[in-house]
Amino acid sequence: MRLTRRVSATLRCAVFGTALLCASALPAPLAAETGAEAWLRYPALSPQAAKAYERLPANTVLLGDSVVLKNAQQELVRGAGQMLGRTLRVSASSSPKNAILLGKLTELHTLIPALHPPQDLRADGYWLKATKIHGSECLVVTASTDRGVLYGVFALLSKIARAGSLAAIDLTANDITEIDEVQNPYAPIRWVNQWDNLDGRIERGYGGPSIFFADGKVRSDLTRAGQYARLLASIGVNGCTINNVNAAPSILEDSFIAQVSRIADVFRPWGVQLSLSVDLSSPKVIGGLDTFDPLDPRVAEWWRKTVDAIYRRIPDFGGFVVKADSEGRLGPSTYGRTPADAANVIARVLQPHAGVVFYRAFVYNHHLDWHDLKNDRAKAAYDNFHPLDGAFDDNVIIQIKNGPIDFQVREPASPLFAGLRHTNQAIELQITQEYTGQQRHLCFLVPMWKEVLDFDMHIEGPDANATPVKDLVAGGVFHRPTGGFVGVANVGMDANWLGSPLAMANLYGFGRLAWDPNLTAEKIIDEWTQLTFGNDPLANQTIASMQLNSWHVYESYTGPLGAGTLTNIVGNHYDPGPESSEENGWGQWHRADHLGIGMDRTIATGTGYIGQYPPAVQKLYEPLANCPDNLLLFFHHVPYTYVLHSGKTVIQHIYDSHYEGADRARDFIAQWKALEGHIDEERYRDILARFEYQAGEAAVWRDAICTWIYRLSSIPDDKGRVGK
Ligand code: GCU
Repeated sequence: MRLTRRVSATLRCAVFGTALLCASALPAPLAAETGAEAWLRYPALSPQAAKAYERLPANTVLLGDSVVLKNAQQELVRGAGQMLGRTLRVSASSSPKNAILLGKLTELHTLIPALHPPQDLRADGYWLKATKIHGSECLVVTASTDRGVLYGVFALLSKIARAGSLAAIDLTANDITEIDEVQNPYAPIRWVNQWDNLDGRIERGYGGPSIFFADGKVRSDLTRAGQYARLLASIGVNGCTINNVNAAPSILEDSFIAQVSRIADVFRPWGVQLSLSVDLSSPKVIGGLDTFDPLDPRVAEWWRKTVDAIYRRIPDFGGFVVKADSEGRLGPSTYGRTPADAANVIARVLQPHAGVVFYRAFVYNHHLDWHDLKNDRAKAAYDNFHPLDGAFDDNVIIQIKNGPIDFQVREPASPLFAGLRHTNQAIELQITQEYTGQQRHLCFLVPMWKEVLDFDMHIEGPDANATPVKDLVAGGVFHRPTGGFVGVANVGMDANWLGSPLAMANLYGFGRLAWDPNLTAEKIIDEWTQLTFGNDPLANQTIASMQLNSWHVYESYTGPLGAGTLTNIVGNHYDPGPESSEENGWGQWHRADHLGIGMDRTIATGTGYIGQYPPAVQKLYEPLANCPDNLLLFFHHVPYTYVLHSGKTVIQHIYDSHYEGADRARDFIAQWKALEGHIDEERYRDILARFEYQAGEAAVWRDAICTWIYRLSSIPDDKGRVGK
């Protein structure tokens, strides 16, 4: 964090200097924006765009009185007021006229028995329906849950906000009186995790200190926490775990739960359930027992009392996230017990309250012997959890990182997604850019996440249907009761939440994909750009295109061909540090030596990791000839002179991709400069400074990696650039 601030402050001065020279040529400035409103800015529409909504009903009627519904109505009034310059009149429900009706299906049915709800409306889904009531044109926003109504309101407001754009007129004057749209979430679990410590720092957070905690307590002012819940609700996220997976046991102390309940209070109006990360040794550390053995009845009883006490204060509490037997955390292995033993003892006391346990599959030995070429951290999740498939209770969800290592710039989908058929699962995606540039480099992760979600595991079954990861985690393939999506967000107190306004596309994209993983990256980024920057066509096209290219650009100068971790892993997970990955027990090895590079994970000669995939996937990765270039070094150890499908040797590809990547990062500056005057000054300058910084860092990466690999391999660059 400190580095970010220092660097951007210096860069900002330089940029200000340049801008002053050409200030006279600029059009009238747009209002300065901090990014705090993110995609919920609700700017006034142009008169022409607003015209499309002339027939939007002038009144709003609320059917019900829950806090979520009242909030939904306030949001509607606020959004319509700001964007259309009209104050919707709040009227009584007895005889709605020319009204937007908000309410659950049950209430709606009493009022309009003739209106038949669609058959396929599921929990949290919504229905937007234009209809006539007693001859008067009305618009119904309804759902089976209050939360669904809130989501419907946000969807309506999003359509209005994007109405002025050329690319996405979803709802116009022609169809406002005809709209009939049902949207359902893909899966019940759409949660974010925050890795906030109680002292206010955030592990792998790059957007300032915690919005929840400061100095070992819950903050007295929770305004930001409420605003965060609003942002989450607007993209359909329904749960938030507020503290670090490396959990402090004291979070479960009664006095702390009393404080935490205040956070639940500000989440509740937005339908966001609060949950906590817990340390499995809590019964011993804070409970005063001499054990935390999950099979000891005293331990079970301690969890029961603790959970019951939480529900007394937080009736809609979501459940627990557990990180155990991983990176030094204590876990059931202390007593020779399994993750299933540990998960179930907690799940059983949560079950009567409808709470769930997320047990993280990120369990591995970080003291692996690096001399042994058969050792492989990538195998750990499957090795630990596949044998327990079916042993977990129905309210346990195994939370699996997208790849088998740890949020690297490119990894294959974890084989564990195919290894659990009788157990709920959720995919864990990392919104905070720990290994992908820490919000100082542009890296829009939706295209990467989509590759994993769409990856077909080819599970053989009674039918020939595809079995992509998105369907496995959503629970559909094996008819699991629950499952879904978890994003590690780590927003902070910085006005723009994540440290960079452009990084918010990842939070938005996570929510949209969790709602519907079939949305394209293009659709998601178009929506986000229009909502975040307005409807200027040049700004929309440029920003969307930069975002869509950014992952490949970042990958090309930091980690080509699936090489694994070239980032400094013992320090900040940010700078180039290819040597730090080797000769230690962390297992993020790339195995580069003077002859070749890559981890041999084949069944034939390597660690056998490929054998964890279903047979059809094994066939894709095991033979060198089939393995895609972009994951080659993840699966195979090859000489530097090995020729890729592209026709280039591995070494020349590494040189070229670093030079191309650094050039493309530099091009971002010119692309951004073309937007001067098309977006507000404040964000324009802030982001320009970031691109100038990124261009410098990309050159540092290029030179560090090219020099390192040239020294190792002694093979010169065909184009004569490296070493000059
Ligand atoms: C990464 C990260 C840690 C985090 C861990 C986890 O290793 O660097 O800070 O605790 O993931 O996901 O548990």
